[in-house]
Amino acid sequence: MSAAPVPTNVPAAAGAIARLPVSLPQLAEKKRLGEPIVMVTAYDYPSAVVAEQAGVDVVLVGDSGAMTVLGYSSTVPVSIEEMLMLASAARRGLRTPLLVADLPFGSFEASDQQAIETARRFIKEAGCDAVKIEANGVAVERARALVNAGIPVMGHVGLTPQTATALGGYRAQGRTAQRALDVARDAIALQEAGCFSIVFEAIPAPVATVLMERMEVPIIGIGAGASTDGQVLVFHDLLGIRDGVGARFVKRYADIQDEMVAGVRAYAEDVRTQRYPEADHTYSIDPVEFERFRSELG
Ligand code: KIV
Repeated sequence: MSAAPVPTNVPAAAGAIARLPVSLPQLAEKKRLGEPIVMVTAYDYPSAVVAEQAGVDVVLVGDSGAMTVLGYSSTVPVSIEEMLMLASAARRGLRTPLLVADLPFGSFEASDQQAIETARRFIKEAGCDAVKIEANGVAVERARALVNAGIPVMGHVGLTPQTATALGGYRAQGRTAQRALDVARDAIALQEAGCFSIVFEAIPAPVATVLMERMEVPIIGIGAGASTDGQVLVFHDLLGIRDGVGARFVKRYADIQDEMVAGVRAYAEDVRTQRYPEADHTYSIDPVEFERFRSELG
């Protein structure tokens, strides 16, 4: 087979020219050509369809979904089964972007074998193209084992929410020379372990810029400045589908939450004042059939 089979139930964007599925070599080529790589998270069929129609390169089923769609207070509690359900739904909404899923906290740390078994489920059951793992004490070893098992791995350094407590909370990393060296060590080790790409999250832009000189694989930034090979944002952050103020690096491109509340409020108002449904929203029946129905009903 020359290309991965593409699902047929994904509505293409109006006027869109059919694109071929994004491959790992294409991402490397984009880095070589200096073409920015666009990554966004998605956690279900509709968000994946939006990402597809918007023409992004990579979709990440991030464990941020634990918070954005499952309502947990951190990414730590989300289970493999929950992540598989989110990833499978996203898969059904995609034709072209590369699909990457986060290995959730506790699903890969214990042994290489555990990491391979978990990652295989994301590839085989959810149809993901690759998995992402956050830097921690064992991530480099696990990344190497996964790559040796034929599973493409994206690394993640800097602010790694799965170990946020150990990092002092959800805060920027690499803000002292020593902490910047820690981020550099993690990034280079993950690259040497065979990761095809690495996320830099919440590190000072000058640190990222210096690190970029050492990075041979595509680097996707989130709160790491403009020197990285691409950017990623959380779907719900960029569209404003959540309350509260996001992290410093979030740029809101829409305020969908306000729109959604306004829509549901208007619907509730219409139901309560009997303005909905109107004649246009109802089905008719042939009068003869209707009379027969009434008389047979008795
Ligand atoms: O889980 C997630 O959404 C992520 C991105 C922020 C990179 O890891």
